Amino acid sequence: MSRVAYVNGRYLPHAAAAVHIEDRGYQFADGVYEVCEVRGGRLIDEARHGRRLDRSLRELRIDMPMSPAALGAVLREVVRFNRVEDGLVYLQITRGVAPRDHAFPLKEVRPSVVVTAHRLDSKARQKRAEQGIAVITVPDNRWDRVDIKTVGLLPNVLAKQAARDAGAYEAWFVDRDGRVTEGSSTNAWIVSADGVLLTRQAERGILRGITRTVLLDATAANAIRLEERAFTVSEAHGAREAFITSATATVTPVIAIDGKAISGGKPGKVTRQLQEAFYRHAEVAPLRAGPAVDGLQPGHFPR
Ligand code: PDD
Repeated sequence: MSRVAYVNGRYLPHAAAAVHIEDRGYQFADGVYEVCEVRGGRLIDEARHGRRLDRSLRELRIDMPMSPAALGAVLREVVRFNRVEDGLVYLQITRGVAPRDHAFPLKEVRPSVVVTAHRLDSKARQKRAEQGIAVITVPDNRWDRVDIKTVGLLPNVLAKQAARDAGAYEAWFVDRDGRVTEGSSTNAWIVSADGVLLTRQAERGILRGITRTVLLDATAANAIRLEERAFTVSEAHGAREAFITSATATVTPVIAIDGKAISGGKPGKVTRQLQEAFYRHAEVAPLRAGPAVDGLQPGHFPR
């Protein structure tokens, strides 16, 4: 079956789906996005992704172009049309199409909405989850509003490619004080040499990952010692365990950082425990959009 994408109110064959050349997302990266995991045909943590989307849009003063219920229906349709059982759904909203000018368009424009979905290679994911991955560290050269999930991802693209060039899977950004911020498309975690689970506090220096938020609940429920604080590269090199989190990586063990083996080159115990606990704390949507999203005002997601 051929792939289908949603573009501004229409479901189109993926190959024919397009936005205008003067879309501000294309010219200025003036837009935001979300990536939601699809597992067993169900959306994972849709409401949390919706709330983060809402916040990103507000930060950029882009109006939410449709109600959460309508958006939820579109996400499900795209997942269904593409027959995605295990994969992801991608949503992008930009400020819209207008003659090129850095300032916001004078005339009101409609934000552009694109939704795509595709399967993920479950064998490769499984292998990474079981065997772990290598990461490298790179200087964090991003702007200071990385808490907004914008489509402006060039430093992340270059960092990810640097990782691939070095034979690693992910790159961890490091701030000017030598502290890890996050991965190019994931949050970064270690279990310190003295057994404390560490992940950077979610202020402006990182994206507040949804997977990260869910894992904080799992950590509390499993009585794991946790500190939300920045950790240095040398703490990471000497860590007992390390892992990354994201909607598509879930909890993926890190077994080498900058070529130094972590936890003897094998996924650690706490990592395993959290991998196992994750879906007990995530919100798994019903197979069909249910009454949970009905009757909401535009711009509001269930809490
Ligand atoms: N990336 N940090 C960055 C910079 C990210 O891009 C992501 C997500 C995360 C983890 O967030 P979450 O747990 O909500 O997925 C952290 C997505 C998956 C992407 O860009 O494809």
